[in-house]
Formats: sequence, structure tokens, C-alpha cells
Amino acid sequence: MSLLIDGKKLAAEVRSEVKYEVEVILKQGKPAPGLNLLLVGSDPASEIYVRYKSKDCEQVGIVSTIVRLPDTASEEEVVAIVNLWNEDRKVDGILVQLPLPKQINEQRVLQSINPLKDVDGFHPVNVGKLVIGLPGFVPCTPAGVVEMLRRYDIPTSGKHVVIVGRSNIVGKPLAMLLAQKKLPGNSTVAICHSATEDLESYTKRADILIAAVGSRHLITSKHVKTGAVVIDVGINRYEKPDGTFGLTGDVDFEDVYEKVSAITPVPGGVGPMTRALLLKNTLLAASGVFT
Ligand SMILES: NC(=O)c1ccc[n+]([C@@H]2O[C@H](COP(=O)([O-])OP(=O)(O)OC[C@H]3O[C@@H](n4cnc5c(N)ncnc54)[C@H](OP(=O)(O)O)[C@@H]3O)[C@@H](O)[C@H]2O)c1
Repeated sequence: MSLLIDGKKLAAEVRSEVKYEVEVILKQGKPAPGLNLLLVGSDPASEIYVRYKSKDCEQVGIVSTIVRLPDTASEEEVVAIVNLWNEDRKVDGILVQLPLPKQINEQRVLQSINPLKDVDGFHPVNVGKLVIGLPGFVPCTPAGVVEMLRRYDIPTSGKHVVIVGRSNIVGKPLAMLLAQKKLPGNSTVAICHSATEDLESYTKRADILIAAVGSRHLITSKHVKTGAVVIDVGINRYEKPDGTFGLTGDVDFEDVYEKVSAITPVPGGVGPMTRALLLKNTLLAASGVFT
């Protein structure tokens, strides 16, 4: 019987811990942590994500402010808002929702965020800190995955981790976290990508297999070692036979379930943890622990 890793339950735990910490801050007479979200354009998925993030904040006592700019906004306008928030003491965390319209250079915008308010952990200063093992903001999805492994007591030390996907927001930072010489981590990590030859020969050796690709059911039972732990980061929208849409992961859940020792579902796995870790990062920003 495989273990179903319940991301919803863990996320609720993280949220209640953050809520408690926010209450402590308020009891000390300090202001509630503040997260400012910038949404540029009208991408429907981004709209939903930003709304969820703001709702999550409300639930735990974090004050969130959403500012919207049109699709036609210039890079200068976006950076000007970020700069205002960088200087504003009421703003602890800054999040610019990605993707940005194509006339805006994403890297330049991310680099304009004060690294001490960079709750997404995408600024090169925080990326660098992660690489050399200094305290800093860790991107929410990789942090959420590691938190899942920790809370389920899944051993990582000396284990062979294979990550499929090398994006800056998931695959690469996750590899850095799990390779570092502390727990949860101390793993031997391989990163696979679209140019990997014979993907199966790598994934089949994984004690912990993490899929972060964005390709529905790329991973099937032939890719998985018996008894492996499988973490499915992928979120893929698909059309059901009745014409409605559903969400599914990069892993063919039904196909691998009997073979693995533990697995995350989609939805209800990594997604809720990503959202919860944003709250944790905002709390860290407000606490000033990285200054
Ligand atoms: N659950 C969550 O909270 C959460 C958060 C973030 C993202 N996601 C989801 O996770 C997935 C990945 O997101 P992302 O932003 O990391 O995506 P991304 O930037 O598009 O990166 C995808 C990665 O997968 C690799 N890849 C593509 N096809 C492959 C194949 N056939 N075999 C092996 N590797 C392949 C790509 O290789 P190249 O580098 O060679 O192109 C790339 O490194 C998406 O479904 C996204 O929606 C979920």
C-alpha cells in the first residue's frame, strides 16, 4: 500500500503555524506582515493565482495589497512600482506575478526587487545564497517540496534524487537544496531535461523521483523503481471526455501508484505547499531574519 503524501493537510499545518506567529507579532504591538502583489496584464491563470495568494494571506493575518497594471505596461512602470515598495516600510514582501508581458524583461524586474523583500526567492542574491548555503529566501515550490519530505520523515541523506526539469523556479533550486550538506538534503542529485538521452535509465535509479516538466503523464511505471518516493510538481490542464477540464501531473498516478512507496497527488500535493511557503517567506521577511 503506497503512502499518499497529503499536501493539503501539510499546507494547513504550515498556515496555522504562520497564523500563530502573526498573532505573536500583533501581541507585541508590531504591525501585521505585509505582502504586495503586482499583476501585469490579464492572464486568467495569473489572476487566479494572485487571488488565491491574497486569500491565503487574509486567512493567516498577513495584509496583502494587489496592484494591477495593463498588458501594455512598460518595464519602467513595473520597476517604478517595485522601487516604491522597496522603500515602503509597511511592505515586507514583494511578489511580481510571472509571466510578464513580452515587452518586459523578467530578469530586470526580478533584479529590481530588494533581496530582503524577495519572498519568491528569484533574485540572484537569494539564488546565490542558496547555492553557497547561506540563509536567504528559497523559492516557494522547492521549499514546499523539501518541507513535505521533512514532515513525512522521508530520508534524503545518501539517497539518489532524480529531478526531471531544470527551470530556475523549480528544478535548479530544488537540486541545490537537496544536494547541500544538511538535512533535509545530503542527497546525490541528478537533473534531467529535454536533451537527456534515455530518461528512463536515470529515473529508474531514483530513490526520490521529482517531476517538474509540464508534460502530462510523461512519467509512467517503466520510469520508476519499485519502492521509490515520487513527487509530482507538474500541473497540466486537460480536457475530460465530458468536455470539462481537469488538472493532472507529470506522473501517470494510476500507473505508478502500486509500485511506489509514497507519492504526491495532483491536485492536492505540491501546489498547496507552494502557496503555504509563500506565507512562511512573508513572515520571514517581516521578522527581518535575513538582514
Ligand atoms: N505545484 C506547483 O506549485 C508548481 C509550481 C511551479 C510550477 N509548477 C508546474 O511544474 C511544471 C514545470 O514548471 P516549470 O516552471 O519548472 O517549467 P519550465 O520552465 O517549462 O521547465 C520545464 C523543464 O522540463 C524540461 N523538459 C521538457 N520536456 C521534457 C522531456 N520530455 N523530458 C525531460 N525534461 C523535459 C525542460 O527542459 P529544457 O530546460 O531543456 O527546456 C525544462 O527544464 C509545470 O507543469 C508547472 O505548471 C507547479
